[in-house]
Formats: sequence, C-alpha cells, structure tokens
Amino acid sequence: MPDPTQPATPVVPDKGTNPMWGGRFAGGPAAIMERINASIGFDRKLWAQDIAGSRAHVAMLAAQGIVSAEDAAAIDHGLEQIAGEIAEGKFEFKTALEDIHFNVESRLTEIIGPAAGRLHTARSRNDQVATDFRLWVRDAFDRLEQGLQALQAALIAQAGQHADTILPGFTHLQVAQPVTFGHHLLAYVEMLGRDRSRVADARARANECPLGAAALAGTPYPIDRHATAKALGFDRPTANSLDSVSDRDFALDYLATAGICAMHLSRLAEEIVFWSTPQFRFVRLSDGFSTGSSIMPQKRNPDAAELVRGKTGRVFGSLGALLTVMKGLPLTYQKDMQEDKEPVFDADDTLMLCLAAMTGMVESWTVNAEAMRRATEAGFPTATDLADWLVRQLGVPFREAHHITGHLVKLAEDKGCHLSDLPLAEMQAVHPGITDAVYAVLTAEASVASRKSHGGTAPDRVREAVQAAKERFL
Ligand code: ARG
Repeated sequence: MPDPTQPATPVVPDKGTNPMWGGRFAGGPAAIMERINASIGFDRKLWAQDIAGSRAHVAMLAAQGIVSAEDAAAIDHGLEQIAGEIAEGKFEFKTALEDIHFNVESRLTEIIGPAAGRLHTARSRNDQVATDFRLWVRDAFDRLEQGLQALQAALIAQAGQHADTILPGFTHLQVAQPVTFGHHLLAYVEMLGRDRSRVADARARANECPLGAAALAGTPYPIDRHATAKALGFDRPTANSLDSVSDRDFALDYLATAGICAMHLSRLAEEIVFWSTPQFRFVRLSDGFSTGSSIMPQKRNPDAAELVRGKTGRVFGSLGALLTVMKGLPLTYQKDMQEDKEPVFDADDTLMLCLAAMTGMVESWTVNAEAMRRATEAGFPTATDLADWLVRQLGVPFREAHHITGHLVKLAEDKGCHLSDLPLAEMQAVHPGITDAVYAVLTAEASVASRKSHGGTAPDRVREAVQAAKERFL
C-alpha cells in the first residue's frame, strides 16, 4: 500500500505531458488536440467492463508469475476501490486523461503507487478497448433479448384474446381478405422471434476474448489467454492478434440486428398510428400512451408510436455511421475506431426505449372489435372466397372464376351493396351455375374459418399458434 505521508505519484508529470505516453514529448497537447482526442465523455460507460477486464488480466499475470502476488493483490484492491468510487459518483473523470482506460489506471496509481504501472504488462489499450467493448455489447445483446421477449409476451397475450376478432387484411393498403387480429399480431411475434435469433447468433460470434492480443502482434510474456477469456465469460480467446484489435464487426452485428428490429417496430408503430385514427378506430391507446394537443381539445395523438417510427432513423443512422467509419481502414487499430462507441450507445438507448414504449402501448390499448368487423364490410374482402367457390363447386378454371367474380363485384359496387346482398337471379345472370349455397362463403367469419392451411388465419389455427408461440418464445 502507498505511504499516506508521501505525495501520490503525480497524475500529470512536469511540462504537462501525458503521464501515459508523454516520455518522448517535450510539451503537452494543444487544448483542441485534447478535445478531439478525448473519448472519456462517452467511453466512461465502459468503466465496469474496463475494471472487470483489468482484474481478470492481473489475476492471470499473477498466476503466470509475470507480476508478484503482492502487486496483483494491491492492484486488485485498488481496482475494486475505483469501481466503488465510480458507482457512487465520487470518481473524477478527467479529459486530460483521454479515455476510461487512462482514467482508471491513473487513479490506480494515486491509490497504490508505482505498482499500478505493472497492470499494463502484456496488454495494450488496443486489446483492452476491444475487450471492454465486446463485454459491453454482449450486455447490450442480453438487454435486447429481454426487451424483445417482453414485447413478444405482450403481443402473444393480445393474440390469445383476439383469435376470433376479424378485421380486413390489407395489401397495397387496400382491403384484401379478412384476417383475425390474433393472426396479425402473431406476424410481429414471428419477426421479433427472428430478431431474437439474430441476437443469439451475433452474441455467439462476439463472445471471443481479444485480451492478450496486445498492441497488434501478441506478446512475449507467457500469458494465458484461455484463463482471461474464461474469467470474463468468453467462449474462447480470439484466434488472430491482428484481427482482434482491428475489427468491430461485433458492434456492426449489434447495429444491424438493432436496425432490423427497429424496422420491425416501425411497421407496428405505423399500423398503430392509423389504427388509432377516428377513421379506423381499431385500437384506442390508453391515456398513459396518448398525448393531447395544445390547441385542439379533441385530439388524442399517438406520439409514442410516431416516435418509435421516427427513432428508427437514428438506429439506421448509427449502422451507417459505423460502417462508414470502418470502411477502408487498413489493419490494425486506427484512432478512427474510437468513433465506434457512440453509435452503439445511442442505438442501445433508443431501441430499449422503443421496445419498452411499444410493450406499454400493446399491453394497455383497447381493441375495438366492432370497428374492425365493420371495416370488413367495405372493399369486398370475400371476393376471393366467391371465386374459390366457383372453382370448387362448379369446376370453373380459377382465371375464369376471377373474371366472373370481377363482374359480380362491379355489379355490387354499382348498386352500392355487399356481395352477399346481390339477389341470386342477378348472380345467375352473370353465371347460371351459381346457387343459393354461395351465400355461405360470403361472410367474413366463413372466410377466416376456411383458411385452415398451416400458418393460416383461421381462429382454430390462431389458438394453436398462440400456444405454440408461448412454448417457443416465453
Ligand atoms: N480510447 C481509445 C478507443 O476508444 C482506446 C484505444 C486507444 N489506442 C491507441 N492506440 N491510441 O479507441
């Protein structure tokens, strides 16, 4: 332990040169140099990972006889103390010390004295930052997985309640065929399930430990990379030292996964926006997830859904930003790569907020089954059922059945009535083989009930799918 009667080793030595690398410099950096170089403003977020990585590293150095047990113990205690100081908000982060790695090491020097200088044996900030960031991204993947599962749970619960609720399904945003609302919601459950599988794949790829790659070439010290990898919960050490400090594809994997997920959320968000208009009234967002207008007292605005839709742009932007940073960089570490963190931090904050807001909206909305059912009465959504009936009952080729049905739709449109309101005689004038039995297939209920094919919208299939989704995802 340091002698408290002696002054601690100075953080910034004479002439203002950087204590970590200033040996060959005669003076300190220009103020603007310090500003452009510093990442502590954002990479302080990596503090817990940085300290965990250092503790694993020093334990390994001691086990391998590279540093003494006493020095390792002092370093470990010092790091533990620093973790406490940061957690309690008592740590002073300094821009002059550039980044989280130097800030922690410098404080360690203040606490334990020169022994702190042994921590950086057999490593470099290049493998250190790659390790810290992988650990952080791994946690971000785990958060994302949880958020996705929570939203799936909310959607599956709603789908179970609405296996029989009928609404128009759309293509081209034109009424297409009746579907069940439960089926519609389960479509999003599938998308989110694929998002989760992307998370799992990317997390597994990211879970290799770069620590010990050192600056770029490896190290002459007899380190045990398997031990540090294991201590930090990685599956194995990375295989190539140059690659270890060069690539950020784990962060790009995160951003690509986040981008696809945000895209999925934006589509549900858009549907919520128009479902909640007075024209549709398919859902009513709870008061907790609606906002009013400062001038129009009647308004209930779906701001949360609009923001989920809008914030998707930030997530896409983050992916574009990091791809652009990495494009064309020669091996190995380049300072450009310090720009890797903020896009990932922002995407994580943004996406987790969007997932939580979406889950809240879905859990608390009120579904208007009547408005949905009424909407199936416009736009002739059972026209395909009529064509199918002509094929199956009268043996008419589908193309011809399509044509006949087109005539009947035109007839109903001209009369301003539903297909089911057309008198039999008028139908027979278009095709003489049509009988009374046709009316049974013209209701929305009959239409959805008939779509029993695997993955189809029939209420019975939806009930099975809800059960299966619970088993697969919850
Ligand atoms: N703050 C740096 C970053 O985030 C740490 C690595 C610095 N390495 C170096 N050789 N300058 O990228």
